Amino acid sequence: MESKIDCFWVLALASKCKSLTFQNNILASILLCMAFFWLAMALCFWAHPGGHAWGKHLYKKGSKACSKPIPGPRGLPFIGSMSLMTNLPHHNLAAAAEAYKAKRLMAFSLGETRVIITCSPDVAKEILNSSVFADRPVKESAYNLMFNRAIGFAPYGVYWRTLRRIAATHLFCPKQINSAEPQRSDIASQMVSMIASYGGSAFRLRDILKPASLNNMMCSVFGRKYALLGYSSNTEARRLIRLVEEGYDLLGKLNFSDHLPWLADFDLQKVQLRSSKLVPQVNRFVNRIIQEHRTTQTSLQRNSDFVDVLLSLSGPDRLSDHDIVAVLWEMIFRGTDTVAILIEWILARMVLHPDIQSKVHSELDQVVGRSRPLTESDLQSMVYLPAVVKEVVRLHPPGPLLSWARLAITDTTVDHYHVPAGTTAMVNMWAIMRDPEIYADPLKFMPERFVNPEAADMDISLMGSDLRLAPFGSGRRTCPGKGLGLATVSFWVGTLLHEFKWVQSDYDPVDLSEVLRLSCEMKNPLTVRVHARRR
Ligand code: HEM
Repeated sequence: MESKIDCFWVLALASKCKSLTFQNNILASILLCMAFFWLAMALCFWAHPGGHAWGKHLYKKGSKACSKPIPGPRGLPFIGSMSLMTNLPHHNLAAAAEAYKAKRLMAFSLGETRVIITCSPDVAKEILNSSVFADRPVKESAYNLMFNRAIGFAPYGVYWRTLRRIAATHLFCPKQINSAEPQRSDIASQMVSMIASYGGSAFRLRDILKPASLNNMMCSVFGRKYALLGYSSNTEARRLIRLVEEGYDLLGKLNFSDHLPWLADFDLQKVQLRSSKLVPQVNRFVNRIIQEHRTTQTSLQRNSDFVDVLLSLSGPDRLSDHDIVAVLWEMIFRGTDTVAILIEWILARMVLHPDIQSKVHSELDQVVGRSRPLTESDLQSMVYLPAVVKEVVRLHPPGPLLSWARLAITDTTVDHYHVPAGTTAMVNMWAIMRDPEIYADPLKFMPERFVNPEAADMDISLMGSDLRLAPFGSGRRTCPGKGLGLATVSFWVGTLLHEFKWVQSDYDPVDLSEVLRLSCEMKNPLTVRVHARRR
């Protein structure tokens, strides 16, 4: 009996197994079909010019997107041309545009993100000056670091317009820039004293420029003054530098989950984790300064600064404390690195080209003489120094891809191609400013190209009206700090050249290799020696 029952169970199990195997087979076949279908779709998307994200869009939208495709690399299935954005993206993208004969407009995919990029000034103008591209794609790190509530990443609309108006009136207007001359002058003389203290031995210029530039912004924005000498022993200044550096690193990173949203939960690059640690520290730091401003009356105890302006807003312009922190933090961020980086590039070029440096010295001697320091009004009588600044910014723009991209708000047409809403647009300003069709001998460092009266068409403004030389961008989202940035760079470079002759260090020759973080800086910091000219 027992054996009969056993037998029955064995038979039942066997038949169950058979049916299970049958069901499993069906399931496996369905899964296999789905995988094939998924793979086939992925390959179809990938086969489209520009790769995965463009193909996927074409599939979803059908006929409307069927217009002439924008040429561009396919990259890899799913991830697209992510490799173009590593190391030095402006070099990679320029080479790809050349290879695909797509200098005017190239399409590519970064995971799920559709991107267009141009290396042509005409097309750049079309993009940057169009209201359709007045938005920005928001990076995960920018969101986490509150920058969606500051000017740079705020969506195009009433809030962004209000912030720009407030900043233009109270921080960036010519009157405000001029009134900060004593502050720039004070920091310039502190730099001169520090540099003189090296007495002809080699030093890393960046270690002076970054704190100087940070001090300048801290003074304009927070009304805080740090002494440059003894910076390393100032705990508040050291903490601030650490916070800014961490923010640079996070914002400058190519974050895969910005383009592959299904990776966001894994936080593979620890962007969310690091941001969540940084934000409370920034909040504490900035909120403390805001509270101090609330408790101190400006006219009696100190001059008014940008914090006072933001706190005094009323009616529809009034900002919450959270928004004030975001706006102030962004100013410190954007205003510090760009200025320091550009000055380092300029002085590196001066060291590499002593003949050009001596032409600047001659101009300074002629306009200022050696008996007194340079003032900002002297700069108005100079032509060669501004040409040097232009030539350096042409070859070494701090934002080679104009720092932050633009986003198409609606469907539009660019250079006769259909560009769908939601497409990210970039301008390779670095490639434009080195284009042999625009500049003769483009790789040659030649400030004369901007002063020579015969080269009339080279009388180009830096401010964004001419897209052959627009390192500050152009259009509605052009850099609002360009006037302040240029005033600071020109005056400090003028002062440093007026005071010293700059020469190579014997052990660390100038190396023009670049590294692109949030801005494009010298990979190997400039190490130099100086000889005093005025004492
Ligand atoms: C030499 C210095 C500088 C360079 C090369 C530079 C470059 C740029 C570039 C290329 C953009 C993007 C423009 C566009 O999309 O068309 C930008 C945006 C911006 N810059 Fe500057 N910048 C400099 C100095 C400054 C300074 C000193 C500040 C502030 C204190 C500043 C604040 C900003 C802000 C807030 C934006 C975002 C504007 C918006 O989205 O509406 N920049 N900058």
